[in-house]
Amino acid sequence: MHNPWLDIPLADYEAHMALPTVGQAQLIAHELDVLVRTYSPNSVAIIGCAGGNGFDCAVGTSVSRVVGVDINPQYIERARERYEGRTPGLELHIADIQASERLFDPVDLIYVALVLEYVDLARTMSVLKSHCDTNGVLAVLSQLPHERMAHVSPSPYNSLQLLAPGMRLTSQEELQRQAGYAGFAPLHSRTVVATGGKRLRIDEFRTGVRADPGAS
Ligand SMILES: C[S@@+](CC[C@H](N)C(=O)[O-])C[C@H]1O[C@@H](n2cnc3c(N)ncnc32)[C@H](O)[C@@H]1O
Repeated sequence: MHNPWLDIPLADYEAHMALPTVGQAQLIAHELDVLVRTYSPNSVAIIGCAGGNGFDCAVGTSVSRVVGVDINPQYIERARERYEGRTPGLELHIADIQASERLFDPVDLIYVALVLEYVDLARTMSVLKSHCDTNGVLAVLSQLPHERMAHVSPSPYNSLQLLAPGMRLTSQEELQRQAGYAGFAPLHSRTVVATGGKRLRIDEFRTGVRADPGAS
């Protein structure tokens, strides 16, 4: 099936996310910075990295390897232009995270910000687990439902509306259940609010014991 992300110019996506009425680009980068400072990983993978939002935060930290993955080749190309030679141990991969069993050597921290809304959750969790080191951390930033606001905020960048039909918000229960089946144990959760008013949740997991899908 054709992925609508392949039809969205990076300039439209980035301008949309930076609008004060959306205000999510800076928040996503800030939360990555907080995670790097909290866990001091040696290696980080950013899944659905777009043009490399937040890659800067690895400079001058414990991180010696930054892996970026995105399905859109133009986004990866732009990330390369921006960050090659500036970000420690940069590795970039063009891939569908649902389809790829082993894309890169496992990392200490995986950050997935606003991506699980567009993929098969169970399949993706199992792929993420195979890329997360023993005692590694998975951090997922997800959009929470809003009573009045559309899932995809209206903006002058109409191409973003291509995402609306396939976008699915996941409940925390479902996220935790699928994470558990894949072998992640919950660590912390917190909610943050973007300047545009949308609430986002950050769920952190540690690689742990696989839950039994048959258990209730
Ligand atoms: C809402 S954006 C989040 C981007 C980024 N985290 C940021 O800081 O803005 C979702 C990103 O995930 C990518 N994406 C969507 N589905 C994907 C998939 N199946 N595999 C890999 N990347 C995917 C899109 O191309 C897009 O760059």
